[in-house]
Amino acid sequence: MARLLLLPGDGIGPEVTAEARRVAERLDPDLVIETRPFGGSSYDELGTPLSDDTLELARTSQAVLMGAVGGPQWASAPRHLRPEAGLLGLRAGMGVFANLRPAICFRALADASTLKREVVEGLDLMIVRELTGGVYFGQPRGVETLPDGRRRGVDTQVYDTTEIERVARVAFTLAAGRRKKVTSCEKSNVMETGLLWRETVTALHAREFPEITLEHMLADNAAMQLVKAPRQFDVILTDNLFGDILSDEAAQLTGSLGMLPSAALGMAGSPGLYEPIHGSAPDIAGLGLANPLGAILSLGMAFRWSLERPDLALRVSRAVETALSRGDRTRDLGGGLGTQEMGEAVLAAL
Ligand code: IPM
Ligand code: MG
Repeated sequence: MARLLLLPGDGIGPEVTAEARRVAERLDPDLVIETRPFGGSSYDELGTPLSDDTLELARTSQAVLMGAVGGPQWASAPRHLRPEAGLLGLRAGMGVFANLRPAICFRALADASTLKREVVEGLDLMIVRELTGGVYFGQPRGVETLPDGRRRGVDTQVYDTTEIERVARVAFTLAAGRRKKVTSCEKSNVMETGLLWRETVTALHAREFPEITLEHMLADNAAMQLVKAPRQFDVILTDNLFGDILSDEAAQLTGSLGMLPSAALGMAGSPGLYEPIHGSAPDIAGLGLANPLGAILSLGMAFRWSLERPDLALRVSRAVETALSRGDRTRDLGGGLGTQEMGEAVLAAL
């Protein structure tokens, strides 16, 4: 029987994953759903943001659905015990190196974006972000005090060809089932890793994916092109840090950050990690105002990529589309529904 591990996490995480859970129970009553504390709430309860037991369970489930982590109450915890460290530990521990972040502008939401309807209508792009390497994990890192009293901070951006190739392969493979175009983004004009990234992607493309159109774009230009003409993109392939930034930007094109799901995948057959890309939103946590659609669509991605139920994945996205077209909206989308009411609207559409 398929097992889904639910990690509600912090802030609005518990509220939005509760709605995703209701959708999961409705669609697949046989799915075994387990829940564990994670992030700041796990730190408070167990003294660590990611316990060994939770990581072990994550590794042995078919899929993990995470809500959100972080909040001001943990800002002074040592870095390795912060909620975010738990998330990075989970990603690394599960080996989920390829992060799929689709940005789709639902027809009903074209006016909810801060961009003009004619720019975002029909948008359907996929960001493939490298997730277990780069400056998020590179050594050395830290802050030291120099003999003269100044403090000095170091982060290290590092990639090897294996890391670049495996995530690029995911991007090319996805593109083959879409509009057959990959835009690879880096800063090869100033960064050594950027140059290696460009060379490695170019060589892999020539060797294995000649039928796909490959375009290289500097990451700063990509940020600009995303708001200027976002529909030129099909699949955007990029590193961990640029992917973090570009995916927040792409999210806003769709109307609200609250809409965007994500899937993090590792080697074939290993469990995937699914999370809405919005954060813990401490300002609205506990108020029942958060948009649960990012979490619900993340569940849809879990059905597709880990639980071998593409039929249920399709039902999730259709139900979300139906609810939106009926005018059901949370506040971030200009509507008046609460988190639970939005969840109910999706259930009704199912
Ligand atoms: C994301 C988030 C995380 C990241 C944080 C919470 C560590 O911003 O998933 O995009 O930077 O990867
Ligand atoms: Mg982010």
